[in-house]
Amino acid sequence: MKKHDFDKHIDRRGSGALKWDGLEERYGSPDLSAMWVADMDFEVCPAIIDALRRRLDHPVLGYALTPDSYWQSIIEWLDRRHGFKVSREELTFTPGVVKGLALAVNFFSREGDKIVIQQPVYHPFRMVIEGNNRVAVNNPLIDRGDHYEMDIAGLREIVDREKPRMMVLCNPHNPIGIQWDRETLAEVGRIARENGMVVVSDEIHGDLMLNGRRHLPMAAVNDDTAAVTVTLGAPSKTFNIPGMVSSWIVVKNPKLREPFFHWLECNEFNEAPMPATLAAEAAYRNGEEWLGQLLEYIEGNVDAIDSFCRERIPKLKVYRPQASFLVWLDCRALGMSHERLIDLFVREARLALNDGAMFGDEGAGFMRLNIASPRAEVIKAMERIEKAINNHGL
Ligand SMILES: Cc1ncc(COP(=O)(O)O)c(C=O)c1O
Repeated sequence: MKKHDFDKHIDRRGSGALKWDGLEERYGSPDLSAMWVADMDFEVCPAIIDALRRRLDHPVLGYALTPDSYWQSIIEWLDRRHGFKVSREELTFTPGVVKGLALAVNFFSREGDKIVIQQPVYHPFRMVIEGNNRVAVNNPLIDRGDHYEMDIAGLREIVDREKPRMMVLCNPHNPIGIQWDRETLAEVGRIARENGMVVVSDEIHGDLMLNGRRHLPMAAVNDDTAAVTVTLGAPSKTFNIPGMVSSWIVVKNPKLREPFFHWLECNEFNEAPMPATLAAEAAYRNGEEWLGQLLEYIEGNVDAIDSFCRERIPKLKVYRPQASFLVWLDCRALGMSHERLIDLFVREARLALNDGAMFGDEGAGFMRLNIASPRAEVIKAMERIEKAINNHGL
């Protein structure tokens, strides 16, 4: 078995990486450690690079067929990894998960319609809804101090009162890395079905379940959830290939699927670019061993950060993610205003993290830390945070 080296430092500066080359524009300085944009500083699984390289040996890059083996690789992956049974007709391509969300919002709702989100949540949900002149209705998550829960009673009330057309679910939930349990998903499905609501379930982080957890796709829970759900997924987060822009949509219910897929098809929104399918198929067919090692490494990084904070920065509380490589850091015990907190991380610790308020007002006092970097660099970042905090005598 090949051992992949996630400790290897890779200099991404100058490669056009948003995470590194976008620092100056976003944070006003290129000289920061980048721990924001949700991609990884690790080498991609060699099988993916090999597949792309092999294709480039041919000198013509014309229009391409999408091979059946590509669709089969997704179907087999979903079944093998998540027990999610999907047929070819229930599956189509989408050029990115956020674009898949935008397509679903445009197709299944009209201007002025209400769409439920649950903050703190991945900020493009609100941007897509509001940018398309729909109304985002927030059902905030309940913060229990060491974990978050979905407010099912709140959801029922909002649905009764606001009559939303749709809901956008983040499963697992970014930025907190929550795995929703079967009962919670079943409740959402029941509420949606009773009220004629379409649920878009963004499952882009679903392959990155930590510590032996198994992802539970919303549409696989029961008949209600299958009937209401548009599932969005991708190999992009899983295999560190978001630059390839390769995602997919699954819709089980033919009443939703047939008109939606027809619309995608006649507008060619679901036409798959050749590099995207090549990379995805290589990942799904040959990336499993790499993924296993990656998950172990990320679990090690979560442990390292959690121990570091407990032992050396007890005022920072780590919400341990159940999925993915993003850590929700509770900084409220520092007693700083949110603006002061951002200043502490960026100007004093020289780190670029996502500030929690990006994900909704509920995130004020939190920071989101991307830990998909070599462990030594993650620890260095923690030391810089420790020093900045100590300098304030906190
Ligand atoms: C929940 C969630 N959805 C979607 C995306 C982005 O997906 P894409 O680049 O395919 O639009 C991200 C990236 O961080 C994410 O966290």
